[in-house]
Amino acid sequence: MSARRNSLVMIAVVLFTMVSLAAMATAVADSGRVPLPIIPMGQGENCVEDTDFMRRNHMDMLKHQRDETVLEGIRSEQYSLKECLSCHVVLGPDESAVTVSSPDHFCRSCHDYAAVSIDCFQCHASRPEPGASPDGHLLSSILADAAVAAGDE
Ligand code: HEC
Ligand code: HEC
Ligand code: HEC
Repeated sequence: MSARRNSLVMIAVVLFTMVSLAAMATAVADSGRVPLPIIPMGQGENCVEDTDFMRRNHMDMLKHQRDETVLEGIRSEQYSLKECLSCHVVLGPDESAVTVSSPDHFCRSCHDYAAVSIDCFQCHASRPEPGASPDGHLLSSILADAAVAAGDE
């Protein structure tokens, strides 16, 4: 009798474990196609849109913005790449803003992980210009020293 009860307990434990693992797998799958890498924090309170929206839609926003700018001559600051980079600046060990040649660069934090490659920084600077921060005080002083250091990418 007690042997039988033991095996029932065992079965219950095994079933419980399987259900938990399945739930965990679903949770991981639901959190997005890509398991999240370590992403450097942005400056300030909020992104230009909801963070979760940004994770999913930044590529479309940027492309749309580019088409508007290059094709139609519209320049709005709202989704400007420069603005992105000033809030999402990452400082290297020498306290200067890293370029996209560093794996710590904000845009690379996910892209390397997700095997996404973008050509944007062949033309665009990959780190902010001095004083380019939207809330200018903190970063401009740091970046004034930094951004001039090596030729911008
Ligand atoms: C005013 C500062 C600011 C600007 C400008 C800004 N961001 Fe953000 N961004 C943030 C903050 C704050 C967060 C939320 C905290 C975090 O996770 O970094 C965030 C989050 C994100 C995330 C999600 C990061 C994660 O942890 O999953 C992405 C992607 C992103 N921003 C891309 C962009 C892009 C692309 C632009 C330009 C179109 C941009 N951001 C402009 C401040 C900014
Ligand atoms: C061949 C060079 C080139 C490449 C590659 C390129 N751009 Fe641009 N981009 C430009 C030029 C030129 C402008 C117009 C700049 C201006 O007039 O202010 C521009 C403007 C923009 C703008 C609007 C202005 C700003 O500073 O925000 C965004 C956003 C943008 N590009 C995003 C991108 C993204 C994202 C990629 C990669 C998918 C990309 N660009 C790749 C040349 C390029
Ligand atoms: C939270 C993670 C994350 C961050 C941070 C991030 N990206 Fe992305 N990005 C992705 C993923 C994932 C994709 C691929 C989406 C897909 O394939 O549907 C992508 C795709 C893109 C694409 C489209 C590439 C293509 O082949 O069409 C562009 C452009 C882009 N990202 C620009 C940027 C820029 C610029 C930054 C930094 C300002 C940045 N991303 C930061 C996750 C991120």
